[in-house]
Amino acid sequence: MNWIKTIETAAVDADGIASATANGRRIAVYAVDGTYFATSDICTHGQAFLSDGYLDGHLIECPLHQGLFDVRTGAPAGAPCTQPVRSFPVKVEDGFVHIQVE
Ligand code: FES
Repeated sequence: MNWIKTIETAAVDADGIASATANGRRIAVYAVDGTYFATSDICTHGQAFLSDGYLDGHLIECPLHQGLFDVRTGAPAGAPCTQPVRSFPVKVEDGFVHIQVE
């Protein structure tokens, strides 16, 4: 599997979210206590970008219906979300967030 260089770590606010693209997919990148995580940016419940949501610890709240996912695993963590959002391995190298998409 290949690592894809995405955005600079400086582009992600501390305990915040940024959107990125990797292999043509829109990805949400999260920073939680200095550790980076990545999921698909599209909610599994509807057409909303998780990168527009609200991050509270390891939970991302979707901006449309306030469903929750755990950014570490993509697992649903609050209604109405029941399907996991895809999560991706992340590493930081040379100040950039790298994501393994496939
Ligand atoms: Fe995300 Fe409904 S679209 S919770």
